[in-house]
Amino acid sequence: MLNAAIWPTLDYSRVPYRLYHDPEAYQREQERIFRGPTWSFLGLEAEVPNPGDFRTTYVGDTPVIVNRDTDGAIHALVNRCAHRGAMVRREMSGNAGEHTCIYHQWCYGLDGKLNSIPFRRGIRGQGGLDPGFDMAAHGLRKLRVASVDGALFGTLVDDVEPLEDYLGAPVLAQLRRLFERPVTILGYNRQRIRANWKLYAENTRDNYHASLLHEFLVTFGLDRSTQVGGVKMDARHRHNITWAEAESDTAELAQEAYGAARVRSNYLSLKEPELVRFRRERADPLNIAITSVFPSAVFVQISNSLAVRQIRPRGVDEVEIFQTMLGYADDPPELTLHRLRQANLVGPAGLVSMEDGEAIEIAHRASKPDRDSTTVIELGGAGVISDRDYRVTDVPLRGFWSYYAELLGIEPAGAVR
Ligand SMILES: [Fe+2]
Repeated sequence: MLNAAIWPTLDYSRVPYRLYHDPEAYQREQERIFRGPTWSFLGLEAEVPNPGDFRTTYVGDTPVIVNRDTDGAIHALVNRCAHRGAMVRREMSGNAGEHTCIYHQWCYGLDGKLNSIPFRRGIRGQGGLDPGFDMAAHGLRKLRVASVDGALFGTLVDDVEPLEDYLGAPVLAQLRRLFERPVTILGYNRQRIRANWKLYAENTRDNYHASLLHEFLVTFGLDRSTQVGGVKMDARHRHNITWAEAESDTAELAQEAYGAARVRSNYLSLKEPELVRFRRERADPLNIAITSVFPSAVFVQISNSLAVRQIRPRGVDEVEIFQTMLGYADDPPELTLHRLRQANLVGPAGLVSMEDGEAIEIAHRASKPDRDSTTVIELGGAGVISDRDYRVTDVPLRGFWSYYAELLGIEPAGAVR
């Protein structure tokens, strides 16, 4: 049973394993989170620059078309034919003047309007649709769309708070930092992981694991808990920014800190040191800025690699991470090369991301048989959920669960927020 009594503590420091495995939880997430009052990342304006350009994506399980209309306006449409519920657009991207379902060729405009239906009047006066059939009432359902400097978000709920309020000032500032100049798409990758989607949403909020699981990061000083850094959340603690400053620790300090943690940091060297070199390109000193937006978007700067990740649940036991690698339109070719080099850190075979996939798969697999047992989340202390200016913490995971509980209607009385 999914109710407030499943939480052993009021600070979400204990999460029952059943929440990763119960089909009932998955269904309720789809209804109350993805089809509920949240904003989901859809894609970038830069991906549909010309009239007729479209991309297909998902909001939870709901397939969505994002396209640019002939007048330049961007629409997001539920990718499902009004007739029999078939997916209208099956391609990932393209350019078209209309969207036609292959099943019975019902045809929709770029604004989602139902434009034509084959054999609408039947043949020789027989069959077809009743003359009173209302074409205007059977278009593709439209999502509400909003943009932060070209990053597109959509929602299936009409009376949701404005996107900027939903994100809150710190997250908004991070998105404006990432999208401060026009971006260009360097490529895409997809990572299919046999684990519940929330394990991934936790992973990107989990500062603590990064320098322990990812030996590569520690060895070459890309991400160490000895750096100046921390976690910053929105007022409701549903989103999180994990940040760290470049060159804010020393190899000696790291050696000392990681010696006891059995992380080997001194037995490898790189033949191509450029792979890990951070080129400062902004006024601020951040070399790590990972912004997780509830429920399913992650905006990532790791050194000079820039990306947006979309967490796509695929049932209770599987998730797809769809990642768009970014550069800036005015990057010199050498910098583009450098970003592509550092793209090797992420993606399905990435020097870093490959390990995240394995880590959440083993968490998923081993937690499955024992659904009443719980995780233990209290690095940085249990109790109050708040920003930290240090790195050994997993507090933002409790923020995620707090908002999750509220949306699912399973928030216990007296719980922290
Ligand atoms: Fe990781």
